[in-house]
Amino acid sequence: MTKRNENLALAAGALGLLGGYALGRMVAASRTQAPDTLPQASLLDTVALAVDVLAPTFAKGVIIRRPGAVALAEQWQLDTRAVQRLQKLRNKYGQGPLMLPLPIRKQAVVLSPQHVYRVLNESPEPFSPASSEKRAALSHFEPEGVLISQGTLRTERRQFNDAVLESNQAVHHMAERFLPIVDEEAARILAAARAKGELDWDAFAQGWYRLARRVVFGDGASDDQELNDMTVALRKAANWAFLHPKKKATQARFFARIQHYLERAEPGSLAAVIARTPQSADTKPEQQVPQWLFAFDAAGMATFRALALLATHPEQAQEARAEICAKPGIERKFLPFLRATLLEAVRLWPTTPAILRQTTRDTEWEGGTMPARTGVLVFAPFFHRDDQRLAYAHRFTPALWLHARSDQEWPLVPFSAGPAVCPARHLVQMLSSALLAALIDGREPTLVSGQKMVPGRLPGTLNNYGLRFALETQG
Ligand code: HEM
Repeated sequence: MTKRNENLALAAGALGLLGGYALGRMVAASRTQAPDTLPQASLLDTVALAVDVLAPTFAKGVIIRRPGAVALAEQWQLDTRAVQRLQKLRNKYGQGPLMLPLPIRKQAVVLSPQHVYRVLNESPEPFSPASSEKRAALSHFEPEGVLISQGTLRTERRQFNDAVLESNQAVHHMAERFLPIVDEEAARILAAARAKGELDWDAFAQGWYRLARRVVFGDGASDDQELNDMTVALRKAANWAFLHPKKKATQARFFARIQHYLERAEPGSLAAVIARTPQSADTKPEQQVPQWLFAFDAAGMATFRALALLATHPEQAQEARAEICAKPGIERKFLPFLRATLLEAVRLWPTTPAILRQTTRDTEWEGGTMPARTGVLVFAPFFHRDDQRLAYAHRFTPALWLHARSDQEWPLVPFSAGPAVCPARHLVQMLSSALLAALIDGREPTLVSGQKMVPGRLPGTLNNYGLRFALETQG
């Protein structure tokens, strides 16, 4: 048996044992609900939620996607099932939060819009982003990353991330250095697509990852395939969280490589910005950067799905073209319509579907008390695609993002919200929209891979790895 198969067998055995024990505890827990506690799901509903919502999210890969599982999820439209399951629970149990009678762990699911804002706005206290499962997963490649840091360490690391990624600036001050990189990588992607006769994920992703390495570390890292391989190996282990042993040697080489690039601080890169940013011995920039490398993957998926939206919605594609015609060169650092297109791609197909928190103390709700150390799940697709509440649930609707959204509106939270909101949301929008502009400028993309992108009835799951485009040059 190979090492990998041994690990899988061990994991399956452990899950089997846990499953038996869990079922017993769940039956006991589901029978003992105190009168002043929050609504609690029945055992059957909890199992249904585990099957329809948690299992597919885990199977697709939380830290790095498994393309085969994503393809199956698309074939069976599993995200639609997940949303329908949560709609049923909301209709049955009301506003929630809904407690799940899980063994070992206290777990709640958020079911109402105002609770989404409460949980996200009151992070990191009492709703800590450093939940147990996130710590178990992310400690494989960023044990001191901001997302799993607490207290003053979190505050300091968050400030550092905000400063370098310019969390509150729509346009990063390095735009003039980054946009030419986008154009160069777009040209490479187009050349690869021409050679293949179509644009597929591989051609796109090669260029996108180069772009990410150049933005983060500079041109010296453009072709660092080994860095990529180390990231992938650590993230694959992270998918199994505590069920997978730590890859200590790979981790040490990974951090050494990042440290090397940070010391080089190549002008024109985020590494150079890091070198100028105030930090203390606790900031650990080399532990913040892995989250960036990891999250650029999500940005690539979202950009490719945004291209699929443009390819299947001629009217909006026309509007995007009008925007890029009016904004040549460096003016493309701010393309509101294409940014809204990207935001729609992450609303329709969130790359962080499960936003997880864990309570640090007892919290009071209309329906009762939630105990300390309860895991809290905000399942973004449920709020983004709730067709019992939203007329635009399955429709490409860039207008949703053309004004600053407020907490009085329905929660659309692809980048989360509140104090732990993604600090790179503007940077991502800037880079992705500029790349989309470069790809469609003078070209007409057609989706040739056959996904049913019916306007008004967009699919719940869209497999980015399976998308293929023909790129006709416009006359
Ligand atoms: C489409 C692309 C992206 C999406 C949809 C996205 C979404 C998110 C979400 C939902 C969170 C909150 C996670 C949680 O609370 O559990 C988050 C956190 C974070 N993201 Fe992003 N992200 C993207 C790309 C990026 C990129 C490219 C970077 C860096 C260059 C980045 C840096 C971070 C960091 C550092 C955090 C942790 C913030 C904290 O804990 O305070 N993200 N992101």
